[in-house]
Amino acid sequence: MAQSQFIIWQQSYSVNSEEIDSQHKELMNFVNDTIRHSTGDRKAELEYFSLAIKPGINFLQKHFDTEQAAMLAQNYEGYQSHKTEHEKMIENLTRIHDDVLVGRQALNLLEIALFIRDWFLNHIQEFDQKAKDCFKYS
Ligand SMILES: [Fe+2]
Ligand SMILES: [Fe+2]
Repeated sequence: MAQSQFIIWQQSYSVNSEEIDSQHKELMNFVNDTIRHSTGDRKAELEYFSLAIKPGINFLQKHFDTEQAAMLAQNYEGYQSHKTEHEKMIENLTRIHDDVLVGRQALNLLEIALFIRDWFLNHIQEFDQKAKDCFKYS
């Protein structure tokens, strides 16, 4: 597994909120853990996927709720579009979770891990950074 695929925390990711930064770090650990389990061993990958993805989605939802509450409290003008991005991601991951578990979709764990990683890094830069004035009060 190429080291270069892991996410490494950088100070430039910070949104000046200890709570949200630590949630982002935990989500990065989740992505790295998923990459680490992408071994190509189908049985082990499916076992990991069935155990880890649902708690990952639940934690992501909790993280989104934290951000949305902070944005709402500050009457942030970008609230609705930011919330829509969160909702689309939860829907996508839930669909992938369900499709894989009922056998509608073959599991490609690395592809899923990299999809989450790329979405996440892009989202921090494109959305969370812009809302960081709200997060410093959270
Ligand atoms: Fe966000
Ligand atoms: Fe975030």
